[in-house]
Amino acid sequence: MKDRDHIRFILNGREIRVPEVGADQTLLDFLRLDRRLTGTKEGCAEGDCGACTVLVGRLTAAGLRYDPVNACIRFLASLDGCHVVTVEHLSGPDGRLHPVQEAMVEHHGSQCGFCTPGFVMSLYALWMQTPEPTEQQVETALQGNLCRCTGYAPIIRAAVAVSRYGTPAADHLMQEREAMTARLSALRDGCRVVTGPEDNRAILPADTDDLAACLLEYPKATIVAGATDVGLWVTKFLRPIGPAIFTGHLDALKTVAQQGDDLHIGAGASYTECQSLLSRHLPHLSGYWDRIAGWQVRNMGTVGGNIANGSPIGDTPPVLIALGAEITLRRGDTRRPLPLEAFFIDYGKQDRAAGEFVESIRIPLPGPTTRNAAYKLSKRRDEDISSVAAGLSVTVEDGRITAARLAFGGMAATPKRAAAAEAALIGQPWGRDAFEAAAEALAQDFTPLSDWRASSAYRTLAAQNLLRRFFLEQDGAATPVQLEIA
Ligand SMILES: Cc1cc2nc3c(=O)[nH]c(=O)nc-3n(C[C@H](O)[C@H](O)[C@H](O)COP(=O)(O)OP(=O)(O)OC[C@H]3O[C@@H](n4cnc5c(N)ncnc54)[C@H](O)[C@@H]3O)c2cc1C
Ligand code: FES
Ligand code: FES
Repeated sequence: MKDRDHIRFILNGREIRVPEVGADQTLLDFLRLDRRLTGTKEGCAEGDCGACTVLVGRLTAAGLRYDPVNACIRFLASLDGCHVVTVEHLSGPDGRLHPVQEAMVEHHGSQCGFCTPGFVMSLYALWMQTPEPTEQQVETALQGNLCRCTGYAPIIRAAVAVSRYGTPAADHLMQEREAMTARLSALRDGCRVVTGPEDNRAILPADTDDLAACLLEYPKATIVAGATDVGLWVTKFLRPIGPAIFTGHLDALKTVAQQGDDLHIGAGASYTECQSLLSRHLPHLSGYWDRIAGWQVRNMGTVGGNIANGSPIGDTPPVLIALGAEITLRRGDTRRPLPLEAFFIDYGKQDRAAGEFVESIRIPLPGPTTRNAAYKLSKRRDEDISSVAAGLSVTVEDGRITAARLAFGGMAATPKRAAAAEAALIGQPWGRDAFEAAAEALAQDFTPLSDWRASSAYRTLAAQNLLRRFFLEQDGAATPVQLEIA
């Protein structure tokens, strides 16, 4: 089949086709500068403040699904075949305020108003998925929206009250679901898309085999999955990224499933797409997952991207290494499995050849004798990068520790296991002494850096204390080890 040289998507009610889309062109610039849809605001241009929140609808195996995303770091090319909904589309043809907007007005959820369209879009998505949310659900949904004026209480009150102003069944996006599904299905032509000028080319492979072929053709191309890292290379560092090969539309890379004793996660599955499977089988990851970025970023960012970026402070590598995860790398038709910990060679250096990509992640499910925990320490509770992250998996049989995998982020140039601390645990009876010895030994494992997130001494002490906390929690300590804010 011939390549297509333009992208096609539905913007609010209209199908549009955009030719010559450069790899680095953002959705936000397109909306504001090209389409003059200026309701969507630019605040931080780095995915943090949520002022640019729009909804993106795409066809999934489970049907049409709308997620709030950050238009500032979402590349236009990645929207091929999607439905983009901006705040201008909220009120529908009759022009009346939408129930979410009415609730915000009546509860004084808006003052200067700059953040308001972003809040309204996040709350709109929440209301469609959970019409009667709890305060906790509202707070989780709004982690990625910042307001400088209201102090949040009125916004939360508005969010909890939205269903009094209207039900999702009467919403025009909900009523048009079938028609929109048909329109989006009609946009699927199975083509490879190659668009934009030669030095800024955007390539959307037709499927995963075509992705492998594209990467052999353009081995130096930038792979763009959720763009929550790559987006910032453009908006903050003004780095050229072309040619860029986009993967976010490839359904086969998004597969998440249990297979026998393993969980398989496609490298292109977003945090949101993995969350329910992980929470079901690995409940210790449930709260941890909610601490990764904010809702919009979790809807875009992928586990594969979090691994492939090689960051020493990515949140998923420590917990996946502790669980003994393995990745599959693919180049052309050749696949090679690799223990995740072996992927990280040194700072900025990963075991990935030119033209190779991460295809999937296999997580062996822990047996009943293994105790697991995932911890993230950061300056801010929500929407912040870790100072220290830890994945701890310790197997206890007949009261004795028979295996230990203790992996840390933020402690070294790569996510890394604590070999000396593990050795101090293995063979010991389960008890406080073993964990005290492990905490002491941990000081030999790492010489962390001091930076503006945390000092070296803080990181070492905090990591040691996480081992102590693990023991207390697993031992059913009478004293709570975590403060709950009522
Ligand atoms: C506001 C904000 C908050 C954030 N908070 C957190 C946080 O709390 N914790 C955290 O860990 N991270 C956080 N991040 C970072 C980011 O969201 C994650 O690293 C995310 O998982 C990256 O995935 P992505 O799909 O967006 O990657 P992209 O930006 O698309 O790509 C990242 C890198 O991986 C490469 N890549 C992507 N997919 C593949 C593949 N399949 N094979 C080979 N290479 C590939 C790309 O070429 C690029 O080098 C945050 C980012 C933002 C903007
Ligand atoms: S402008 Fe701040 S998240 Fe996009
Ligand atoms: S109302 Fe002013 S920033 Fe939120």
